Amino acid sequence: MYKIINKQPLNAVVTRMEIEAPRVAKSGKPGQFLILRVDERGERVPLTLAACDPQRGIVSIIYQKVGLTTHKLDSLNAGDSLRDVAGPLGLPTDIHGVRRAALLAGGLGVAIAYPIARALKAQGTRVHGFLGFREKDMIILEDDFARCCESFECMTDDGSNGRKGFVTDGLRAALESGERFERAYAIGPLPMMKAACNLTKRYDLPTVVSMNSIMIDGTGMCGCCRLTVGGRVKFACVDGPDFDGHLVDFDEAMRRGSLYAGEERRAMHECRLLAEVN
Ligand SMILES: Cc1cc2nc3c(=O)[nH]c(=O)nc-3n(C[C@H](O)[C@H](O)[C@H](O)COP(=O)(O)OP(=O)(O)OC[C@H]3O[C@@H](n4cnc5c(N)ncnc54)[C@H](O)[C@@H]3O)c2cc1C
Ligand code: FES
Repeated sequence: MYKIINKQPLNAVVTRMEIEAPRVAKSGKPGQFLILRVDERGERVPLTLAACDPQRGIVSIIYQKVGLTTHKLDSLNAGDSLRDVAGPLGLPTDIHGVRRAALLAGGLGVAIAYPIARALKAQGTRVHGFLGFREKDMIILEDDFARCCESFECMTDDGSNGRKGFVTDGLRAALESGERFERAYAIGPLPMMKAACNLTKRYDLPTVVSMNSIMIDGTGMCGCCRLTVGGRVKFACVDGPDFDGHLVDFDEAMRRGSLYAGEERRAMHECRLLAEVN
C-alpha cells in the first residue's frame, strides 16, 4: 500500500498529491511516469512524476479529474492509501546539451512539462516558456514555471489572461521576430502538439512531444500504447513517452486515443449514479 501524504487542489479540476513511494522516488527522472491503481479492482492509470524527493521517499503527481479513476483518486485524502504504484516507467526526457529551448505546454500538459522545465533550468538552459489554458480559472503552476524560464508567456484561448490565442501563436510570434531555439518541447493535447510540430517543421526546429497514449501494462507487453513514428511501430510506454514530433503520425494517435470513448463515458455515468445513491 502507498500512503497519501498530502493533497492540494490547484484549481477546480486539478490536484497535486504527494505519495509515499520510496523506490520510485529514488530513481524517478523528469519525463518518466508511474502507473497506479487506486484499489484492488481499479484500472491502471499512467501519471507523470511531477517531482521526486528521494530523501523523504515521496513522489508528487498532478492529475486532472477527467473520468472514473481520476475521480476515485480524488475522493481519497492524506492518510489514505493507494493499492499499487509502479514506476518509474518510460524514458527520461532528453535535455542533454540544450542551451536555448522553447517549452510549449497546453492545459494539463503544463503539469507534465513542469519537471522538464525544472531540469532545463537546473542545467542552465535558457527557456522561453509558452503556457496555454482554456481560460483564466484553469491556470496552474504559473509562478513555478516563471521561475524556470528566462522569458515566459501565459496565454488563454479566450483572452481572460495574457495574450488571447494558442501557444502556437506565441511561438509563431517569437520565431517571426527572429528568436531562435535549438529545440522545442511541446506537451499537451494531441491537436496542440500536432499544430506545434506543423509550425516548427517550417522553421526546421527539432521538436520533442510527449505522447499520452492509452496504456495498460506500461512495460511494452500489451501493445495498447502503439503508435507510428517515422513509419515504424513504437510503444509509448517503453520507447517514449517522448518522440521526435516531426515523425509522429498524430492522426493515427488521435484515432487510437478515442477507441474507448464509449466505455469511458459509461463508466463515468455509473460513477455519477453511485455517487447519487450514496
Ligand atoms: C505517459 C502518460 C502520462 C500522463 N500524465 C498525466 C498527468 O501527469 N496528469 C494527468 O492528469 N493525466 C496524465 N495522463 C493521462 C491520464 O492517464 C488519464 O487522464 C487517465 O488515465 C484518465 O483516467 P480516468 O479513468 O479518470 O478517465 P477515463 O474516462 O477512463 O478517460 C478519460 C481520458 O483519459 C485518457 N485515458 C484513459 N485511460 C487511459 C490510460 N489507461 N492511459 C492513458 N490515458 C488514458 C483518454 O484520453 C480518455 O479519453 C498521462 C497519460 C500518459 C500516457
Ligand atoms: S502500455 Fe502496454 S505496450 Fe505500452
